[in-house]
Amino acid sequence: MEKIKRSFVDEQIRLALEALGRSQVLPKWARWTPKMWQEAVRRGMDPSEIINCGLGWDFTTFGVSERMFPKTGLVAFTLSNGNPDKEYPQEYCQKLLWLQEGQSIPWHHHKDKREDIYHIAGGRLRMQVARPKRIREKFEADKTENLILSLENAPREFVPCGEFWVGKECPRRIRLEPGIGHLMTGGCGGTLLGEVSSVNKEVGVRVQDNTFWAGNPRYINIVADVPPRYVLCNEYAELLKVA
Ligand SMILES: [Fe+2]
Repeated sequence: MEKIKRSFVDEQIRLALEALGRSQVLPKWARWTPKMWQEAVRRGMDPSEIINCGLGWDFTTFGVSERMFPKTGLVAFTLSNGNPDKEYPQEYCQKLLWLQEGQSIPWHHHKDKREDIYHIAGGRLRMQVARPKRIREKFEADKTENLILSLENAPREFVPCGEFWVGKECPRRIRLEPGIGHLMTGGCGGTLLGEVSSVNKEVGVRVQDNTFWAGNPRYINIVADVPPRYVLCNEYAELLKVA
């Protein structure tokens, strides 16, 4: 797997903050440095729900290099989530997703998670959906089957082969049922999305709910070329030494 420099991660989060920050829903700790986290915990803040439910910044290249990040990658912020393995019974999850123009979250599906993706701001999202077809260890899009999906909360028939857009003057919301594959690409000037879903099982859980069709890793190796500016949702234990 490609190694990504910490300075690159921090710069991408800084850029995403400009878009996500406008949503006015980020908690104050979204901008904290590791030192500010340690200080808050020393003063009595209990970060256990944030840590165990994987809240906060989520950065990934899905295994590709920094050079390829404009094509494949994601900066997201998880606002709410549960963790059935650690006695956090919330059955729901809410995230903000920031995709640069032309940047994709690769084909994947979820075993259990049902997710509503809604457009908040920026260019229209290019969405492709298909059922997965297994080819040895990997999956491909089965483009022979039409899907019935809920768009803007009303069912409609949908042909999965071509492009599909979510945003202004298009359906603003699409519901992805468990098992439906999806590939999402940011539109003109970048796209800010909301995601409301069943619980997200990725951080600190025994069994992952995601299947990335090309075997992409969900989290990445980071090289410490500078001290971290932001703390990612999968590194609280390592950076804060509090878990
Ligand atoms: Fe998804």
